[in-house]
Amino acid sequence: MKMKALLILFTLGLFSGSCAVKKDNKRTGLRTPRPAVRTAPNANYRPPAPRPAPAAAPQGGTGSLPYNFNPAVGTTHSSGRADQPYIALTFDDGPHPKNTPRLLDMLRQRNIKATFYVIGKNVKAYPALTRRIVAEGHELGNHTWTHGKLSAMGNDQLYRELEQTRQVIISSAGVQPRTMRPPYGALLQNQRQWIMQKFGYPTILWAVDPLDWQRPGPAVVTQRILSATKPGAIVLAHDLHAQTIDAMPATLDGLLGKGLKFVTVSQLLAQKGKQ
Ligand code: NI
Repeated sequence: MKMKALLILFTLGLFSGSCAVKKDNKRTGLRTPRPAVRTAPNANYRPPAPRPAPAAAPQGGTGSLPYNFNPAVGTTHSSGRADQPYIALTFDDGPHPKNTPRLLDMLRQRNIKATFYVIGKNVKAYPALTRRIVAEGHELGNHTWTHGKLSAMGNDQLYRELEQTRQVIISSAGVQPRTMRPPYGALLQNQRQWIMQKFGYPTILWAVDPLDWQRPGPAVVTQRILSATKPGAIVLAHDLHAQTIDAMPATLDGLLGKGLKFVTVSQLLAQKGKQ
């Protein structure tokens, strides 16, 4: 018992010793003095008011579908399965420095994923925007370098159009395009098969065409898409045109209101492969 008491006393002595050192330091002014002036708290700060959320697709729902489609399902596609509520929105001829960012904001607010058939020349001009498309979960498709009429081209020229675009997409966004869409839908059957062999790209056409490039006004674009879009549809639109983007809030909300779910073209084809 005596030994224990001694130990306790000894330990206490050690602690008081260390306290003494601190006091010494304080006395000698080695501690950092408190700043004389303190910043007054900002009493005027208010957190930003939450904005009302638009109708949105369910989180993680449509994005979790597989990306690997079965090439055995065929070379040309204008739709997916009609017995499922999935559709693929596609936007062609971008990226466009003003319209594409506006569209991306609208899609992000609603958790909608789409597919962008980009022109190689535009990707080269706007690599950061191309990266943003991919970073926000959308898919890139190959829409050639010059947007020429492929059906009038020989194989060498056709190869350059697709390969240059493939390369600039990889160098800008770090992803491989998995499908292609011919400008004007103009591609011969033997060219489609040749492209499938050389690049592994199925040729993607569309089931719904609102003719938005004729600029009929946003309300008409919305009405045409809403009335024609059924389960499995691949919808064609152009993020090149401001009117098309103006039509999108009502179009997207209308499609969501119909209970349709949004996937990328590759995801739509993956479902088709399971049929
Ligand atoms: Ni086009």
